[in-house]
This record gives sequence, structure tokens and C-alpha cells, in this order.
Amino acid sequence: MTLTDAADRAGWYDRLFAAIYEPFLALGERRGMAARRRDLLAGAVGSVLEIGAGTGLNLPHYPAAVTGLTVSEPNAAMRAVLRRRLSADAVSRRGGGTSAVSRRGGGTSAVSRRGDGTGAVSRRRDGTGAVLHRQVGVDAIQISPAAAEALPFPDGTFDTVVSTLVLCTVEDPVAAVAEVRRVLRPGGRFLVLEHVRGEHGSRLERRQHRFAGPWEKFAAGCRCDRATAEILGDAGFDGTALRRERWAGMPSIVAPLVVGSLPVAGRGAG
Ligand SMILES: C[S@@+](CC[C@H](N)C(=O)[O-])C[C@H]1O[C@@H](n2cnc3c(N)ncnc32)[C@H](O)[C@@H]1O
Repeated sequence: MTLTDAADRAGWYDRLFAAIYEPFLALGERRGMAARRRDLLAGAVGSVLEIGAGTGLNLPHYPAAVTGLTVSEPNAAMRAVLRRRLSADAVSRRGGGTSAVSRRGGGTSAVSRRGDGTGAVSRRRDGTGAVLHRQVGVDAIQISPAAAEALPFPDGTFDTVVSTLVLCTVEDPVAAVAEVRRVLRPGGRFLVLEHVRGEHGSRLERRQHRFAGPWEKFAAGCRCDRATAEILGDAGFDGTALRRERWAGMPSIVAPLVVGSLPVAGRGAG
């Protein structure tokens, strides 16, 4: 069974977690996370892949410089919420006669826009109460069920890959980061916003280790003690480009963040 097959069989807890995800994050989003998403995604350009897109909290923040957007999400319950958000948004634009929702074979769906095609703006209330204000200059947003460890895209497909709060949860973060490198074109950027393990030897790190098991059960596989910054560095991404920040409004074990726009060197380099 592949990772995607496994995730496609969304169990009751997956469905519950998808339903409570945004309410659980709401305080953190208000206390800086939504602004952090917006600032990071301002750097997205061209053809963009977002891995582990979850319920789609990043969607309102993509800028007009994005010309194509693929959002991958292996969890069927999360994907259902994501699809509803995109569909509702497309339907809300239909009044202007410029958009349509279509479904393709192989489980990939697209929310596509016709007519003016670029830079159109729509507004609706989304699940977090924020205004969904999309200005993505794209013809179609593709939804893929792919797991980050096995991305079904050729080498060098994307100008930008986005990962927010995902590398804590993927089963094999080393494989996932290697896949991100592979699908980024030389000179492309990996936009990263991840919670990470606390400083080595700190009380926080000990607390993270202590609560890692129960937290993983509660948060659908999330490891609060994952050394994601080191994994990125080992994969050849420039760790010095990562800023250390704190996620306010959330439990301390997930508070330490790394944020950054990481350049990818030519394949075969470092
Ligand atoms: C904490 S949520 C983050 C969702 C979203 N990126 C955000 O910023 O709100 C982690 C997401 O990673 C997804 N995920 C889990 N395993 C994955 C994998 N192997 N590849 C890609 N995404 C995965 C989960 O289904 C979930 O949607």
C-alpha cells in the first residue's frame, strides 16, 4: 500500500482532526501566524507546488506573481476541506462569469478560471473568519493526493515549493526534502515555515521529547521534537537563511519555528 493509498482511507480521527484543525489553530493564526504566512508567500513566484496543504490556510496569501498552483494533500479528510474551500471560492466568483470547477480523472481536480484569467480578486469569509482574498494569477489550481516523499512530477518542474507545518508530520522528512529539491528548478526557492525541536539540552527540548508520543496521537502524526532545520541543512539547503521565531497562541512544545526562503542550488550541487 502506498502512502497515498493509506491516507485516502480517511478514518474517523482523520475526519475529526480535519474538522477541528482550523479552530485549534485560530488563536495562533490571529497572533501572528496568518501574517507570517502572508509574508512568506509574498515570495512565491511562477509555477508553485504546496506540499501538505491541509485545509488551505495558505490559499488567501498567494500573490499575483504565481502563474500556476498545485496543492498536494495525501489525507482524504483534509483534501475534502481543501476542495470545499476552493469550490466555494470558485462558485462565489461564478456570478462574474469567470470561473468554473472541474474534476479530472485520476483523482486530480482543478478549480479553473476563465475570462480575464489573471489577477482576479474574490472575497468570502473562510473557516477561520479571515477574508479569503485570492489574487492568484493562475488558470487552474490543481489538487494532488501525492505524499511529499513521492511527488509525481518531473525534475525541475516548479519555481517555488511551499511547506508550512508539514515536515513535522511527513513519515520520512529526509525523503520529502530530497523530493522537494528534485522538483525545484535550479535557482528555485523552497519557502519553509515549520515548527522544530527546541535548543539542544534545553528544558523545552526535554518537554518536547516527553510529550512527543501523546502529541503525535492528538495531532495526527505531528512530531513536536523533529530536527527539521538540521534535515534541511543535510539536504543541501542553506540553513543560515532560516529565521528563528516563536509561534504565539499555541502550546510551547510547538512554539519554536524556522521560517525562510531557501534557494536551491543546481542539481548535483551540495
Ligand atoms: C499540521 S498540517 C499543516 C497543513 C497546512 N500546510 C497548514 O499550514 O496549515 C500537516 C499536513 O501535512 C499533511 N501530511 C501528512 N503526511 C504527509 C506526507 N507524507 N506528505 C505530504 N503531506 C503530508 C497532513 O495531511 C496535513 O494536512
